Amino acid sequence: MVTSLDLIRAECDLCDKCALCQTRTNLVFGVGNENASLMFVGEAPGEQEDKTGIPFVGPAGKLFDKYLSVVGIDRQEVYIANILKCRPPHNRDPEQNEQEACIGWLRDQVRTISPRMIVCLGRIAAMKLISPDFRITADHGKWITRGQTEMCAVYHPSALLRDESKRDDMLRDMMSIAEKLRLYKEQQK
Ligand code: URA
Repeated sequence: MVTSLDLIRAECDLCDKCALCQTRTNLVFGVGNENASLMFVGEAPGEQEDKTGIPFVGPAGKLFDKYLSVVGIDRQEVYIANILKCRPPHNRDPEQNEQEACIGWLRDQVRTISPRMIVCLGRIAAMKLISPDFRITADHGKWITRGQTEMCAVYHPSALLRDESKRDDMLRDMMSIAEKLRLYKEQQK
């Protein structure tokens, strides 16, 4: 069966709204459950993601998987995407014009999946989706409500690879996300 997300992915694969489509190997559209209650949004594909077309499969993704597993969230149950669908060369930060060019695809994904919770992975996603003034060190783990959706941001897993002192905070935030998801699923029964 061709789903709505398959159609959006097919259109996204043809996108040439910015120059990153010329240097990427694969489109990294997003992966997971189309009916997910919880969606994670990272920054942009890295080398392994560009090679495989799947978000969060490199070193940062492997660490992220460990957090999911420790707090009891099944990766198959959630949806994972990025602000940018194509890899910026040498993993540089996404430029504003690239984010603007790409954000419509994420909006289409969010509209289709309609998740109850969106969790930004890192400051770039938080600044784009929550507020340009977002300060990841001060504001991580704080929930806000936008319409029907609850949103928060946690540290980017690559930041945890560089700085292990952030890992306790990450664990606390991930536990709070898992608990919210559990309560929401309980209510839906
Ligand atoms: N970092 C991200 O932000 N996204 C990925 O998919 C991989 C690494």
